[in-house]
Amino acid sequence: MEKRSDNDHPIHDLLARRWSPVAFDPRPLPAAQIATLLEAARWAPSCFNEQPWRFIVASRDDAAAFETALGCLVESNQAWAKNASLLLLTTTKKTFTKNGKPNRHAAHDVGLAVENLVVQATADGLIVHQMGGIERDAIRATYGVPEDFDILTGVAVGYPGDVSALSESLQERQNGARTRRPLGEIAFVGRWADPFRP
Ligand SMILES: Cc1cc2nc3c(=O)[nH]c(=O)nc-3n(C[C@H](O)[C@H](O)[C@H](O)COP(=O)(O)O)c2cc1C
Repeated sequence: MEKRSDNDHPIHDLLARRWSPVAFDPRPLPAAQIATLLEAARWAPSCFNEQPWRFIVASRDDAAAFETALGCLVESNQAWAKNASLLLLTTTKKTFTKNGKPNRHAAHDVGLAVENLVVQATADGLIVHQMGGIERDAIRATYGVPEDFDILTGVAVGYPGDVSALSESLQERQNGARTRRPLGEIAFVGRWADPFRP
């Protein structure tokens, strides 16, 4: 199922095709595909090339590891993420390694790395759904995440699945409209809130 962006100006096909479905087909991903996704993330830019991102990886073909990661999501996310092929938990190093100072861009840089992964996944015919709804305390305790790392998001990756197998409320989400603020509300020229007009 496709749900392309209703964009007002031309954008790259990969960006137009990307969206956040909830219907996944529960098949494992080949290890080489998982490596490719992480490699795409690895080549993201970052402030001072700190590369603050760290990923906890739980592949469907390791049932115990997958269940552990699934249990670290809030219940409403577990309801659909249980059919993903791969679950990632993203974390970021809060300080620069070279001088120990706070890295204000740590979360920003993880976002860049995840978007690299998302675009790679889309190009490879996969779907991705990111999650803020995760159990951070449980993740820290379960995986022994050090205090110098913030726990940011969950990322479900997999194959497009059967919409009719979803609950009614998840079908509504899967089929619902995708909306965006108009360009003039997010891009300003001259003064704050003076809309950019192409
Ligand atoms: C950081 C982040 C956190 C998100 N958290 C959740 C979440 O916990 N549960 C969920 O179902 N979707 C979550 N989403 C998905 C967004 O709701 C979705 O990206 C947004 O509605 C736009 O839809 P689209 O990705 O299909 O364009 C999250 C997305 C991002 C980037």
